[in-house]
Amino acid sequence: MRKPVVLITGAGGEIGHGLITTITESGRQSVVTLDVNPLEPSLARMVQREFTGSILDTPLLERILSEFEVDTVFHLAALLSTRSEFTPTTAHQVNVEGTLHLLEFSQREAESHGRPVVFVYPSSIAAYGLPDLAAKAAAGRVLEEEYATPTTMYGCNKLYCEQLGRYYARHYKQLSAEPQAGRVDFRCVRFPGLISAITVPSGGTSDYAPEMIHAAAKGEPYACFVRPDTRIPFMAMPDGVAALLALASAPREALTRTAYNLGAFNPSAQEIYDVVRAAFPGAAITWKADVKRQGIVDSWPADVDDSAARRDWGFAPAYDFRRAFDEYLMPMIRDRYAKERR
Ligand code: SER
Repeated sequence: MRKPVVLITGAGGEIGHGLITTITESGRQSVVTLDVNPLEPSLARMVQREFTGSILDTPLLERILSEFEVDTVFHLAALLSTRSEFTPTTAHQVNVEGTLHLLEFSQREAESHGRPVVFVYPSSIAAYGLPDLAAKAAAGRVLEEEYATPTTMYGCNKLYCEQLGRYYARHYKQLSAEPQAGRVDFRCVRFPGLISAITVPSGGTSDYAPEMIHAAAKGEPYACFVRPDTRIPFMAMPDGVAALLALASAPREALTRTAYNLGAFNPSAQEIYDVVRAAFPGAAITWKADVKRQGIVDSWPADVDDSAARRDWGFAPAYDFRRAFDEYLMPMIRDRYAKERR
């Protein structure tokens, strides 16, 4: 007999780390993972089964399909925005074709067990593309429908996959005699930059914030790759994980849209520098803007309007800028690097 499980792709990444821990500690569901790299032993111990391989590997997905009754998918596997600019066709394969594979997988799972598969997808502020700094300053808190003109391959991939998910949800609903049965129940958030105390990102463009914090805590020098006045929204990782779980369990009828903005705080890089220097007075942080990466964050909004997520499924981040630093990042990061030094 196949057992109902949650499937997490890209499980070894930053979001996967928090998601595996939170789901398995709650004891509610068993987790099966798929990642191109083996999981860290501490994570591997928590999951029911770990598959190592690509989301483009159809025989591997068929094997998961035959062995597990997947009722929820968190499809996190992706190449992030900076990395995708270096290898855009690979990014398209992983980010778009990979998502298509997982949607098709979920459709077949749903048909085989006769219930919808909840498919949770992290899109991104990269789905936005503001034409210049004047437009960014004038736009303020952008709504989901505004400035849907991304400048990066990653942003194009995310925006298109939001639509692909919507297509799967609508198309199969129309084909099915029983609208709720056997279909993909696609739900998606547009994440701001995420900052974790436990992991450091790689290949993204919002990475300057977590990199600055972690470098300071380790006592390493850091050259920030954006200007001090750069401003985009961010969120502490526990709020990101909580948001994915809240969206996954929200009643379907409460959801009025496919993609929801999320935000929590939106400091400038200078404001991040100020709190980091206050916490680590000796931190050697310098400014060295990278033209391409600066161009990417300049095209992302300074803030987002997330009132739809708050209204429809009760999104309410626990951490504002101060609390994120004082109660989450600083204590956990200090503890982590102190342990490593011992
Ligand atoms: N944090 C991601 C990146 O910088 C955006 O979703 O690529």
